[in-house]
Amino acid sequence: MTASNPTLPEKPTVTILEPMLNHRSIRKYKPDPVPEDLLTELLQAGIRASSSGNMQTYSIIVTRDPELRQQLYEPHMKQNMVLDAPILLTFCADFHRMRRWLTLKNAADSFDNFMSFMVAAIDATLVSQNVALAAEAHGLGICYMGSTLANCDQIGDILQLPPSVVPVVGFSLGYPAEDPALRDRLPLHGLVHQETYTAYTDDQILEIFRQRDIDGWNRYMRFPRMRQWIEQSGAENLAQVYSQLKYTRESHQEFSQTVLDYLKAQDFMN
Ligand SMILES: Cc1cc2nc3c(=O)[nH]c(=O)nc-3n(C[C@H](O)[C@H](O)[C@H](O)COP(=O)(O)O)c2cc1C
Repeated sequence: MTASNPTLPEKPTVTILEPMLNHRSIRKYKPDPVPEDLLTELLQAGIRASSSGNMQTYSIIVTRDPELRQQLYEPHMKQNMVLDAPILLTFCADFHRMRRWLTLKNAADSFDNFMSFMVAAIDATLVSQNVALAAEAHGLGICYMGSTLANCDQIGDILQLPPSVVPVVGFSLGYPAEDPALRDRLPLHGLVHQETYTAYTDDQILEIFRQRDIDGWNRYMRFPRMRQWIEQSGAENLAQVYSQLKYTRESHQEFSQTVLDYLKAQDFMN
């Protein structure tokens, strides 16, 4: 920030912390459309994100069309926000544009491999979070959807992705029709290590998750359908809900295979 650049706000660090500290995922939306110039502003802010070598190996797909959102509803695991939010943003790892440019410029192609996918996936994720924060700073809400990667093959087909492009993260975007409480976080001391990684004792791990064990369990019990599901399953604690109900070994193995097969089909596994 300098006096010679009057377009920058006086204290950008303060204004950016506000949406960061107030972030809540929004799953209910008003039907109000997001103005085009506002969306453009969010995307312009988003693409200021760092990217590997400034290659910007991502594409952002803006989906508003109700018919397309209806098609995406099923692979997004029938999550209501796909239909209810006015906009879906899908952030794809994308080496298609870059690789074609290399060919047109008679340059060698280094980017048909897993490392390239990881580089592009990181670029896509960073830009997505920049757009998310810009949106939240403008009073909009977002909710990421893990189905973007889990069902990347079906979503890729619907969005007509060419080779070297893979959907990685996506979120619904619109004006919130709910005002949920802030969700808990693990304590900082359970997430941060000083200088090198310090191994946890079992007691430390139990302490780090102690409040989560209570808050997470109580939160799920407040949703009638979730409560019924948990009670029928016989799960006795939050840890069991996570790995025996929400994210089973079988489902994670199946989604892993989907992603690996799609990466191969999209020319990222040579
Ligand atoms: C990569 C990713 C995938 C997610 N997928 C889903 C999803 O499919 N459905 C959903 O309702 N929330 C999803 N979320 C939102 C998380 O559940 C949410 O961020 C977390 O519970 C913390 O709550 P908060 O965002 O309100 O603080 C996802 C978040 C991330 C980062």
